Amino acid sequence: MNNNIKNEALKLQKELTEHSYNYHVMDDPKISDFEYDMMLKRLIKIEEKYPEYSSPDSPTKRIGAPPLDSFEQADHSIPMLSLDNAFNDSDILNFHQRAVKKLNRENILYTIEPKLDGVAIELKYEHGILVQAITRGDGVTGEVITENIRTIKSIPLKLNKDKIKTPLLLEVRGEVIIKHSDFEHLNKTRMKNQENIFANPRNAAAGSLRQLDSKITATRPLDIFVYGIGLVQGISFLTQAQMLEGLRSFGFPVNSNIKSGLNIKAVLKYYKELEKLREKLAYEIDGMVVKIDDIVLQKQLGEKIKSPRWAIAYKFPPMEKTTTIEDIKIQVGRTGVLTPVAVLKPVNVAGVMVSRATLHNEDEIKRKDIRIGDTALVVRAGDVIPKIVKIIESDRDGTQVPFQMPVKCPVCNSAIEKIKLDRSNINKCVNASCQAQLKQRLKHFVSKKAFDIDGFGQKIVDQLVDVGMLKSFADIFLLEKDKLVDLERMGQKSADNLIESIKKSKSISLKRFIYALGIDHTGENAAILISKTYSSLESIMNTSQKALEEIHGIGPETAFAIYNFFNHFENREIIKNIEMLGVVVKNSQQPDINFTDNPFYNKRIVLTGTLKTMTRAHAKKQLENFGAKITSAISLKTDFLITGEKPGSKLEKAQKIGVTILSEKDLIALGVTCNKT
Ligand code: IVH
Repeated sequence: MNNNIKNEALKLQKELTEHSYNYHVMDDPKISDFEYDMMLKRLIKIEEKYPEYSSPDSPTKRIGAPPLDSFEQADHSIPMLSLDNAFNDSDILNFHQRAVKKLNRENILYTIEPKLDGVAIELKYEHGILVQAITRGDGVTGEVITENIRTIKSIPLKLNKDKIKTPLLLEVRGEVIIKHSDFEHLNKTRMKNQENIFANPRNAAAGSLRQLDSKITATRPLDIFVYGIGLVQGISFLTQAQMLEGLRSFGFPVNSNIKSGLNIKAVLKYYKELEKLREKLAYEIDGMVVKIDDIVLQKQLGEKIKSPRWAIAYKFPPMEKTTTIEDIKIQVGRTGVLTPVAVLKPVNVAGVMVSRATLHNEDEIKRKDIRIGDTALVVRAGDVIPKIVKIIESDRDGTQVPFQMPVKCPVCNSAIEKIKLDRSNINKCVNASCQAQLKQRLKHFVSKKAFDIDGFGQKIVDQLVDVGMLKSFADIFLLEKDKLVDLERMGQKSADNLIESIKKSKSISLKRFIYALGIDHTGENAAILISKTYSSLESIMNTSQKALEEIHGIGPETAFAIYNFFNHFENREIIKNIEMLGVVVKNSQQPDINFTDNPFYNKRIVLTGTLKTMTRAHAKKQLENFGAKITSAISLKTDFLITGEKPGSKLEKAQKIGVTILSEKDLIALGVTCNKT
């Protein structure tokens, strides 16, 4: 036996487990993805050579196992019930009254949890080790999907025993979900690879768990929240809240929008709050689960055949509705891209009237075979614009008309150019002075993150372009009150206000100005990065494409677009005109630096202790401006530790492994400025 190797394997297993927990459950990574990958690679190599040092809870088990021929079936030790639904307050009050009567007590407290819209599963831990995972199935029997479940990084392969002694047996129940942003990304990739896209995050999660090859599951962005237990031995809980706390201590992700100790009135109040929160959450929820908190009371109430008497689901209105596609219109964007938009028979989707849905591009219409007159299933998810999930083909009666992409721009009648972008066919109007493009560019220019001109809404831009008062950005600063009042729905007061807002907007930060120009590939982030590197508009206008490419985070496409923009005579003229009309682009704080030529560029830096002459946020921001990466824990990869007063244990660790230590004075000597006196 090679003890050194064995110890290294054990150490890597332990550390990787901790880092994975910090990253996936706590959202607080302590090392970079790169460092994690390197450690994992090393562990895989060791375990390949010495399989005897591997274990069922080794992080290497998360990368997937050899494919199965089929899934085995297994019974749940205790059936996984479903929940009765409540659709209004009185359903909930009736549920409460039934419990009051049966328990013969008025005072009942509840724990309420978001009802996650995913796939229910059960995880079995024997002596703290994950040994089996089963789908809910019909509630009695499910499919064994252990290998697939092991690939979900937020599920512990071994229970954490820091706070609670490991129970002999623990069956944990929860919902596997996919976050909205991960779902969008997953579908985008699938579209690029010409694979079928998933209708919603729940289907994507279910499809991912149903893979016989767990290596495929490992590539899917699955997550979990746990909310209950099945059979347990060697541990007991008194309340639902205590159980959730216990599960959290074992290392499971437990939802953060759970509330406990609520009386029935507070339950109804929280429903309204959660409903508002719903659209802001990173994942889909379709209601609120109301559970009697006291487990003794739960037992007294017991169950019906399919559902418990101590819990109920208070559903939210669905985010999906069917409606008719009355027409398909073409929208011309800022850069001339033609986007088909479905005009819908207005429908109320969870409190919001929806009358339009984006169709993305021609390919999407073909793929989903969307026709004018079709009945469509429309979904509103998170903050994004409503989308058409699918067409209800059984509703077709032969009157539906397939859509034809126009061959000319519907606004300016110019030719349409077809280009391929990420394997999608994009239609673009070739005329840069197309009125539709102009309107979109102007809307972008006055928008919140750009010039932020209050009261300059879409309708005003449209009207001003239509009457010929706005032909370029500069015209905005030539607007006069007398002419504005002639516009539809524009009174004296609003005209005054608009002129005042325009005046106020004239002093603008470099970052906002760059963003406002609407250069291809140059969103808010790129604008920030550039204005951090260059101090003035002039220096950006005169820089080289190569220098732009060197900025950390700016890709070659963006660098080219920016360079190209400023080297067009017309664009330089536009900027000159804007400046002549009194717009002042404020220089950024930082001096121009050669981004790579400074001692902090590309260095990994950790800070400890209190700084006297600057706030920590200020120090961090400046170091990041120099191209440094700030991390929170010392590792072999750390280049510098910056120490303030009363440094923590990081100093000792840094000294031990030989990290260069810098004082606050050193920092200042190397070019960091103070912001405290
Ligand atoms: S408790 C006996 N809690 O809803 C208690 N279920 O119709 C049964 N679900 O199959 C489940 N979030 O998939 C519970 N916080 C939550 C939940 C939740 C989602 C799902 C679960 C279950 C279905 C019940």
